[in-house]
Amino acid sequence: MQTLAFAAKLLAACSLAIYTFSMPSNARLLDPRQANGFVSPSVDPFYRVPANISSYKPGDVIRSRKVSTYATSAKTSYQVLYASSLANTTTYDVATDATVTTLLSPYFPAAGPMKIWGLALPIDSTGKDCQSSFSFQLGALSKAKVTAFPAIFGVISNYALNKGWYVSVPDYMGSQATWISGNGEGFGMLDGVRVVANHKETVGSKSTKDAKIAIYGYSGGAHAVSWAGQLHRSYAPALNLVGVVSGGIPVDVKEMLSQLNKGTFSGFVLGSIAGVAAATPKLQTWLDTNLNAQGKKDIYATRATGGDSQCILDLLLRNLNKDINSYFANKDWQNDPTVSSSLDENTLGYGSEGQIPGTLPQLILQSQTDEIISPAQVQSYVDSQCAGGANINYQKIGTGEHIATAFQTLPIALQWTSGVLDGTLKQSGCQTTDTPFLPLLSQNKDANKILGVDIVSALKKYEGTDFGFNGIKFK
Ligand SMILES: *[C@@H]1O[C@H](CO)[C@@H](O)[C@H](O)[C@H]1NC(C)=O
Ligand SMILES: *[C@@H]1O[C@H](CO)[C@@H](O)[C@H](O)[C@H]1NC(C)=O
Repeated sequence: MQTLAFAAKLLAACSLAIYTFSMPSNARLLDPRQANGFVSPSVDPFYRVPANISSYKPGDVIRSRKVSTYATSAKTSYQVLYASSLANTTTYDVATDATVTTLLSPYFPAAGPMKIWGLALPIDSTGKDCQSSFSFQLGALSKAKVTAFPAIFGVISNYALNKGWYVSVPDYMGSQATWISGNGEGFGMLDGVRVVANHKETVGSKSTKDAKIAIYGYSGGAHAVSWAGQLHRSYAPALNLVGVVSGGIPVDVKEMLSQLNKGTFSGFVLGSIAGVAAATPKLQTWLDTNLNAQGKKDIYATRATGGDSQCILDLLLRNLNKDINSYFANKDWQNDPTVSSSLDENTLGYGSEGQIPGTLPQLILQSQTDEIISPAQVQSYVDSQCAGGANINYQKIGTGEHIATAFQTLPIALQWTSGVLDGTLKQSGCQTTDTPFLPLLSQNKDANKILGVDIVSALKKYEGTDFGFNGIKFK
């Protein structure tokens, strides 16, 4: 995945240069992206939650503007500030938050009921300036610290647009960037697809009656769509959600902490605690009291904005091998009741609301050699959901690195999505498929057939080269 790898290397090189060597410390507050004419969400008035937010219903449009994005096949492209809910909301009909989505319309809408595809980018960071809508703008990639490989997801969105689907790419973390908070991300995702029908400029003359919705996310994005699946029944039952596709799901925050601490992906440990705490006042208070000085510095730095933002690559590069346990006097801090309950409440499948009903078809994809997400946590989640009556096609991929698997499983993910949106795919109960090996997209005969030659050749450009980060390759 050449272009991406190049960009990733460039990003890594730039950030090291900026942070370590060249820039005087007082200049670090300048966001390098702004030099390219982009205004970061944290300072852009467009993103601001209005004072009268509680006058809106979740899914209402607050304001919108035209943008150019990496999804170059769109007929119209808008950023839309929509009303949603904070993680700790208890009333579901009054909005308490506002966040942005990028809405794309197709030139030739699919026949029949409107088809809507919600795409959750793997934001994988806790900074308010790491939002999808910001990095998805055409050109944002060229100038510095961005997130979520927007050029690749632009190609994937083009596939959806060519099928005649309307696309929403929500900033599902909400205005407070509460990454890995279950409710917060689920609400943001559901309202991010609910808003499509309310945005006249995107919908045009297409009827929104009986619109069918499918959502897709991998890694951090999988967390958001899985929580949306879990909250659908209680939060947005009127939405005609017909399918959820997720891959490499971070199911369990505690599991993630123990697996990734003191390693290459320590940044995810620090960032997820910061994100969950931003949505959980009791955990935030507990951290303020119990973190030592170094812990406050490192963990709260993951929330930085502007030039100090720690979007995915910086989150990892700046926190390599850090040990979260060194920030607490009590080494058994995770078993403190406040911490433990806060993490449990943000674990998929937890509690009486944790069972996703069999009426919602799901496809779950998981590499059995994933170095970031332990396959065992996904297996036990699938097992317990299936025992409770869920409707899951669980595809176990024998080998593959976490990020590479995202791309190699695209034909499976998108073919399944087409099936549920067309109504041709019928699925009930649970089934597991073992696929020992998936070829590169360029060598996958099905890929051309499913995705089309143009999409595959656009994606092929990214294959086989180095991510620029600890030897991880896109292949
Ligand atoms: C919120 O306030 C703005 C600015 O005063 C106003 O234009 C808008 O109509 C209000 N929205 C609602 C739902 O009351
Ligand atoms: C809910 O969380 C937000 C931050 O995400 C905080 O500002 C607000 O005070 C919290 N509300 C309650 C009732 O705890």
